Amino acid sequence: MKILVTGGCGYIGSHTVIELLENNYEVIIIDNFSNSKRDVLDKIKIITNKNFIFYEGDVCDNSILEKIFSENFIDGVIHFAGFKAVGESVEKPLMYYRNNLDATLSLLETMNKFNCKKIVFSSSATVYGDAKEAKFVETIKKGTPSNPYGKTKTVIEDILEDLYTSDPTWSITMLRYFNPVGSHASGLIGDDPSGIPNNLMPYILRVAVGELECLTIFGNDYDTPDGTCIRDYIHVVDLAKGHIKALDQLFNLESGIKIYNLGSGKGVSVTEIVTTFERVNNLKLNYRYGERRSGDLPNICADPSLALKELNWKTEKTLEDMCKDAYNFIQMQKNSIKGD
Ligand code: NAD
Ligand code: UD1
Repeated sequence: MKILVTGGCGYIGSHTVIELLENNYEVIIIDNFSNSKRDVLDKIKIITNKNFIFYEGDVCDNSILEKIFSENFIDGVIHFAGFKAVGESVEKPLMYYRNNLDATLSLLETMNKFNCKKIVFSSSATVYGDAKEAKFVETIKKGTPSNPYGKTKTVIEDILEDLYTSDPTWSITMLRYFNPVGSHASGLIGDDPSGIPNNLMPYILRVAVGELECLTIFGNDYDTPDGTCIRDYIHVVDLAKGHIKALDQLFNLESGIKIYNLGSGKGVSVTEIVTTFERVNNLKLNYRYGERRSGDLPNICADPSLALKELNWKTEKTLEDMCKDAYNFIQMQKNSIKGD
């Protein structure tokens, strides 16, 4: 089976490409390196010892997509390409709507043209908005995300639903990720955003290696057991494996539209993640408690039982694995920079 992976050089895409290759899928990647580095391609080859096809280009560009579909018989697509920084999306909403929506529309139009109608889409828990449920289940009505990034996910889910209504020969799976962290066990690839990170784990990593001075834990007066926010962290390798299960289902079903939460179902507080990171990596993190971050919800956790029931998927890695693998990655990064 030949799978086109858009955004396959990014954090989640590269981990998923590895799982695809290891499961004997043939892989074609398109990426424009807007948020990734070219050397990821070599690293995927080193890790898997397998070949794949790569096109450098913009998924918004129908002509390169047509070239890819003309040159390859593609059985299905996993669509990761998009911008994902919440804060930046508030500052540059047009850039976010343009990239995330255009890329998806161009891709769907081209797939339609070439009669390739199987797609897995990277959605997010953000589509639940500020739902109050203790655990988010797929049947909850979508909410309104607080930022343009989140809204692009909601709109794309709507577009996919409308497409399926108009043509039920499509097979569409939308995966709602919770909080992906961690790295491949090799330490070669991982999440290394440029600039000062907004997300918790990349920030912890920069503090751990001395590039940033102190982690601020945003708020310790929430209505949670230790006062800090609770999230459902998922190891990126478990997340990548979820895509393989989703694809397997996509190729076994005639057609259909599905939504699955990909999370562990276990809430972890910020303090818990910090203390676990210190314990498993045998170090002390410099941190302090500060003000709440605007827009943060106290408790976000997946109900992942549908993915277990229908995809036979559940997380296997622990919080300890996430913390160890993430630290291993940042150390390897630092060492490779020193060695350059
Ligand atoms: P990432 O930024 O690391 O990867 C995205 C990749 O897509 C990058 O390599 C980037 O260069 C590429 N890209 C972006 N726009 C493109 C375009 N128009 N044409 C070609 N390539 C393009 O992000 P990620 O963390 O791997 O996330 C992948 C997907 O999962 C995104 O759609 C993101 O919104 C979604 N998601 C991520 C998270 C998370 O916490 N990382 C959570 C929920 C959903
Ligand atoms: C954020 C986005 C979400 C997006 C997800 C991608 C917001 C409001 N939400 O989720 O839309 O899908 O990233 O991974 O931005 N924290 C600190 N100190 C820090 C950084 C974070 O205490 O320096 C806390 C936050 O308050 C939060 C937790 O750590 O409680 C996780 O934060 P983060 O990694 O940014 O993820 P989310 O906010 O859950």
